[in-house]
Amino acid sequence: MKIGTPLSPSATKIMLLGAGELGKEVIIELQRFGVEVIAVDRYENAPGHQVAHRAHVIDMTDGNALKALVKKERPDLIVPEIEAIDTDMLAVIEEEGLAEVIPTARATQLTMNREGIRRLAAEDLKIETSSYVFADSYEECLQAAKLIGFPCIIKPVMSSSGKGQSRLESENDVEAAWQYALDAGRVNHGRVIIEGVIEFDYEITQLTVRALNAEGEIETHFCAPVGHIQKNGDYVESWQPQPMSEIALEKSRDIAEKVTHALGGRGIFGVELFIKGDQVYFSEVSPRPHDTGLVTIITQWQSEFALHARAILGLPVDTSLRCEGASAVIYGAMDETAIVFDGLEKALSVPFTEVRLFGKPEAFIKRRMGVAVSSGNTIDEARGRARLAASSIKTEKA
Ligand SMILES: Nc1ncnc2c1ncn2[C@@H]1O[C@H](COP(=O)(O)OP(=O)(O)OP(=O)(O)O)[C@@H](O)[C@H]1O
Ligand SMILES: [Mg+2]
Repeated sequence: MKIGTPLSPSATKIMLLGAGELGKEVIIELQRFGVEVIAVDRYENAPGHQVAHRAHVIDMTDGNALKALVKKERPDLIVPEIEAIDTDMLAVIEEEGLAEVIPTARATQLTMNREGIRRLAAEDLKIETSSYVFADSYEECLQAAKLIGFPCIIKPVMSSSGKGQSRLESENDVEAAWQYALDAGRVNHGRVIIEGVIEFDYEITQLTVRALNAEGEIETHFCAPVGHIQKNGDYVESWQPQPMSEIALEKSRDIAEKVTHALGGRGIFGVELFIKGDQVYFSEVSPRPHDTGLVTIITQWQSEFALHARAILGLPVDTSLRCEGASAVIYGAMDETAIVFDGLEKALSVPFTEVRLFGKPEAFIKRRMGVAVSSGNTIDEARGRARLAASSIKTEKA
């Protein structure tokens, strides 16, 4: 593996599509190897823009704008950090040999739409999932909900962070839920998935890395399972390792291996799984670092961001756990630009604790603006510390 000198003709150039908090950490890891990094986002001064060699603002769902930028920058690798990208254009870019897409253009196409990844997992790979039906109209939605039974969950096929998602308790809820899904979907196709509710004991993210070994072949590595709590479609707390039965852990890794193998390429994947006793259900997968994996900043020798950077560069990886730990999210708590954070000294006086403030230019009440990560002798101790640190930070108007 050879790496050139940044800002010179020999540079190894990587373009991040999406430069949020997860992209920012990946960029920092790439910068440590002397990679030339180009960060792209839909708004100015995104977190990753602030630590990259160059920053661009474009609408990444506009294929022509995307291709023009790739032709101008000529990156060696393109690393998507978000789902809202013209992934068909990524396939063209890959096909024409303009750049390599991480992990593969096909993986980004399949995972940006719930239908692609669900059919791949459940129908092609025969992996256990919730029951599901797709629908394109209110009438189909009602039919589907009756077929699945109540309670069930409705989600736009193209959405993330819980947007447009609702839980239906009875037929009376279908109309409002359909309308809500229609309004919130990323692309207004009006196609939804109706899923049966899995009454899981807990849910995990199985971080899985596909990286080259000494022989230059792809090998699959597993991180310790990350447990987490979701509220309104966004994670509020995560911890690692999540205690699991041997059987459930083995099944989880088997599913993660199958799904990531089918998507292919190099890099880290966040495989989302629901666990009930020894039963494991596949939910979805991110072909990129996962937000719940922010905890690995403190728990692993190589965080999920370092693992991603190494894997995409063709370098060896080590997924060993360093300690038990937890993360807790810091929210904007107000709709304001250029807010001020107070109490960092209080947060950092909590033992074995680190804080990341992402530097987002605009805060929303429920926007993730930072995270506290703590280690502990037990998961409970780590969770208590992370929560205490996160709650010590108060946001104010400038
Ligand atoms: N079929 C289901 N049964 C039980 N719980 C579910 C089901 N589907 C979703 N959930 C709950 O809702 C959360 C969010 O669902 P999902 O991951 O599908 O949405 P998302 O919009 O892709 O969210 P994100 O982008 O944050 O991953 C899950 O982590 C889980 O807690
Ligand atoms: Mg999810």
